Formats: sequence, C-alpha cells, structure tokens
Amino acid sequence: MNLNIALLPGDGVGPEVLKQAVKCLQAVEETFNHNFTYKEALVGAIAIHKKGNPLPDATLKLCKEADAVLFGAIGDPKYDNDPNSKIRPEQGLLALRKELGLFANIRPVQIFPTLIDNSPLKKDIIAGTDFTIYRELTGGIYFGEKKLNDEGTVASDLCEYSEKEISRIAHLAFKAAKNRKNKLTLIDKANVLESSRLWRKVVAKIGESYPDVALDFLFVDNAAMQIILNPSQFDVILTENMFGDIISDEGSVIGGSIGLLASASVGSESAMFEPIHGSYPQAKGKDIANPIASILSAAMFLEHFKLFEEAMAVREAVGKSLKKGIVTPDLDASSKYGTNQVGDFIADNIVDSEDDININDE
Ligand code: IPM
Ligand code: MN
Repeated sequence: MNLNIALLPGDGVGPEVLKQAVKCLQAVEETFNHNFTYKEALVGAIAIHKKGNPLPDATLKLCKEADAVLFGAIGDPKYDNDPNSKIRPEQGLLALRKELGLFANIRPVQIFPTLIDNSPLKKDIIAGTDFTIYRELTGGIYFGEKKLNDEGTVASDLCEYSEKEISRIAHLAFKAAKNRKNKLTLIDKANVLESSRLWRKVVAKIGESYPDVALDFLFVDNAAMQIILNPSQFDVILTENMFGDIISDEGSVIGGSIGLLASASVGSESAMFEPIHGSYPQAKGKDIANPIASILSAAMFLEHFKLFEEAMAVREAVGKSLKKGIVTPDLDASSKYGTNQVGDFIADNIVDSEDDININDE
C-alpha cells in the first residue's frame, strides 16, 4: 500500500519519540512490502519560534494533502506561566484538530501483563482493565466563545454542543462497543450542565438503534473515582472534550506509565495519530522518553488503514521489548536503555508472523 504521511514532531520529546515510530513504520514497509512517504512540518512552540505561528499554513496544507498525520508532542513551559501570552503552542494542535475535522479521539487503556507491578494500583484492582475512551475533540469548552472583560477581572469559556456533534461520535462509540464487550458508558455532568443533558438525550436515543449494547451513564466526578476503584467495569467510555482530556490522563496511570498510551483522532476525511502524553520538556534531548506511546500510535495508524497484520507485528515487537525489560527508565528506574535503543529493538523485532510459521515448518 502507498501512503503519504505528514510528520509533525512538535516540541519537547516529540521529535525523539516520533523518530522511533518512523523507524518502526520503515521496518513494516520492508517486511510487508509497503511504500510510505514521509514529509515533515512545523507545529507548536518550534513553529512559533521559526514562523511566528503555532500552525503555519504550509503545515496545514501538508496535513490536508496527506493520508494521515503522525504527531509528536506539543507545549513549552515558557508559555505555561505567562497568562499574558496571546499566542500559545497548544493553539497549533487545537487548530489542527478543528481544521482537519478530527472530531473523535480514541484512547485505548490496557494493561500489559508484564507491567502489572508498575501500576501504582493494586494488582487485583487493575487485572482485566481494557477500555477505550471516545473523547469528543472539536467542540465543547475548548472551542466555545472565550471572554475577558476590559478590566481583566472576569473571564468565561462557553461549553456548547449540538446534537450533530454528539451524534457523530456517539455512533462511532456504539460501533466500537459492538465490536468489543457491548458496553457503553457516557460520562457527563447531567445533574448540573445543560450541555450534558443534551448528551444524555441524544446518546440514549441513538442507543435504541444498538440494542445489543448496554448503555449506562456516570457523572464525571463518580467516574473519576470508579476508574481507579474498579477500572475493569468499563468497555467503551464516551465523553465530551474536557472530561475526556482529564479522564484519559487518569486512565493512563492504571498501566503504570503515561508513556505507553497511544491515540487516534479521526474525522470523516483525515486521521491523526499521537501519544496522549505531553512534550515532557524536562526529558528533551536526554534520550529517556518512552517511545512506546508513539510506536503504538503508529500501530493505530496501520489499523486505520486496515493493515491489521502489520499493526499486530508492531504490537508484538512492543510486547517483546516489555517482556525482555528493554524499556526506558519510566518503566524501570535502573534501566540502561534509552529512547533510541528501545526504538531500535522494537523496529528490529517487527516480523511477519506468517514468515515465522514458514520458517518453523521447514
Ligand atoms: C491532549 C492534550 C491537549 C488537550 C493539549 C496539549 C491542548 O492535553 O491531547 O490530551 O488538552 O487536548
Ligand atoms: Mn490531555
């Protein structure tokens, strides 16, 4: 298969981890005879620095022309504590999501059996955790009208949702549940927010067309508790933009490191794949960042194009690195392996399992 991939390394450890994902995709190309083309562009703080714009026109154009976008990370502490800064790296990512129409952010949360001791939670609590968050990505409080009065003393952010915005992601989430354990949990704050009441109404109605899927509702405060008390109760979680942002960071703790969690952002035309972690500026250039979230995002990219064997080969190679302890220090403080070595190991272990069988047969 021929695919054009836009690479947006971004800030902090983004370039380092994305490089490992590309290594793995190149191994997939060779092993499975595909032809991927990679073109790189600027986004985030580095784009502000070089072009004065967190999402330069050339970057957006490249992403629109590509079959898919692979994203590194975004953010620079320089902007975080400066409330007067009008231009911020994150605007690049938000504009990209909006411009590409990436309304659904899919974030799987799973436990790797070999890492069960890495979790800060007790083994018997996390056993069997396997859920996927469907986070709405182009609406809600992130994109509603923002106001600040002239005196700079009163500010507001509007959380607005339309039936259309809710229903398009709800359908994706119900379909995902049908292919999994047939359970969908809508997380909202319908006891307080009008927008959440609309979510409940629209999702309940759509649920009637998916009779096999058991639908339940949880208030977000209770959900925050349930996710660490009993994570295995969840199958597919559907939620709005900001609740999804928060809940997914919480979910990442279950598996022991946020450096493991990948995501896909999809819309009707484009798709983008990125780790859920941020730019981790303290680790920049130190060769310690975990590349697995980025590599698993590449696996989600392969699955998006129905290259399931290829994605499985990547996942198996990741599993092998975890099993052998070829991991970065976030997973093993005494580890002597860096980002690059872990990336090399995983790329080198990407094999076609059918070839394996043939070899064994001979
Ligand atoms: C994420 C990030 C982004 C978000 C930031 C960087 C704008 O936290 O992808 O979860 O809030 O969506
Ligand atoms: Mn986040």
